[in-house]
Amino acid sequence: MSQRKFLSLRDFETSARRHLPRPLFEYIAGGAEDSASLHENRAAFSEFGFVTRVLRNVSGRSQAVDLLGRRYASPFGIAPMGISALSAYRGDLVQARAAAAEGVPMIMSGSSLIPLEEVIAAAPETWFQAYLPGETAKIEALVDRVDRAGVKTLVLTVDTAVLANRENNIRAGFSTPLRPSLRLAWEGLTHPRWMIGTLLRTIALHGMPHFENSYATRGAPILSSRVARDFGAKDHLDWEHLALIRRKWKRTLVVKGIMNHEDARKVRDTGADGLIVSNHGGRQLDGTVSPLRVLPEVVQAVGADFPVMMDSGIRRGTDVLKALALGAKFVFVGRPFNYAAAVAGEGGVRHAIRILADEVQRDLGLLGLMSISEVQRAELRDLACRNPPRR
Ligand code: GLV
Repeated sequence: MSQRKFLSLRDFETSARRHLPRPLFEYIAGGAEDSASLHENRAAFSEFGFVTRVLRNVSGRSQAVDLLGRRYASPFGIAPMGISALSAYRGDLVQARAAAAEGVPMIMSGSSLIPLEEVIAAAPETWFQAYLPGETAKIEALVDRVDRAGVKTLVLTVDTAVLANRENNIRAGFSTPLRPSLRLAWEGLTHPRWMIGTLLRTIALHGMPHFENSYATRGAPILSSRVARDFGAKDHLDWEHLALIRRKWKRTLVVKGIMNHEDARKVRDTGADGLIVSNHGGRQLDGTVSPLRVLPEVVQAVGADFPVMMDSGIRRGTDVLKALALGAKFVFVGRPFNYAAAVAGEGGVRHAIRILADEVQRDLGLLGLMSISEVQRAELRDLACRNPPRR
């Protein structure tokens, strides 16, 4: 597919809306309940504006960053997204390979349909994100498996104590597993490129997709009229479990889904290597503020040396730079890369990464900045509050 029609990350969403069966598109695009947090995540960015600097010879500028002992080509990576191999053929692999080729990290979701070992074999720098229940035996077994697979960075998502109220999924006919129905069959038939190129091709070449990475053993199939998915006792997960994971997992540990500054300090004190401020893309508690609004207090609580990352709502290079200016060391972007994989495969994801990287590179120049380490000194105004400058 020609990449020329994709000029911004939004363009992939427009194509994916047509390409994907509605239940699948709605699963990716949706938020929880009234989507208040989903909209808040975008609104928060538009409430900040830059004051640019000029005449600074920005010809040699660079957007490379050092994070958790590695150097990345850009200050952003791909956020974890469930069932990516149902929206795109071999979706997790496609995202992981594209990220590796462009020099940025990709976080593979634990709610995924390809064994993590395959993805790590193809792209060894891929981060793995686990949803763990508050059950010691299951925690230990999964951590052992992730370790054996050679994962270097484990991300523990902690904002899913209970399942979110995703009414949009029910309205759109989405569930995991998907329940066979006339409506679902119709969705497949009316989206033949997805049906043949993704679903049937996957089943023919790799068998019926299953949840492969929720635990140490294989989980439910993605399509079944009866099987229930085991979500585990996630509401039992607590700080003791995090301490246990930290003791057991010797490589890089990142905790995702932190919003409160005291929680952030506890994460740091437990010995984790970094955290991601996130409201799960507006998909968990509807009404949660945008991570952007709490970033400065989280960064202040843990200190500038502790890597604070952020996701939820980033669609433009200026969004990346606003988050960095408010204290994030790095950001993650989710849905647009999933759409890019769905409509244009690995080349599409690479193109999407380049679009965002080009924007960051242009924006750095227009801001009069030479490097990402200078972004924290960029002048931001809070447009909503008409606040005076931060400094
Ligand atoms: C999975 O993490 C989801 O938000 O659906």
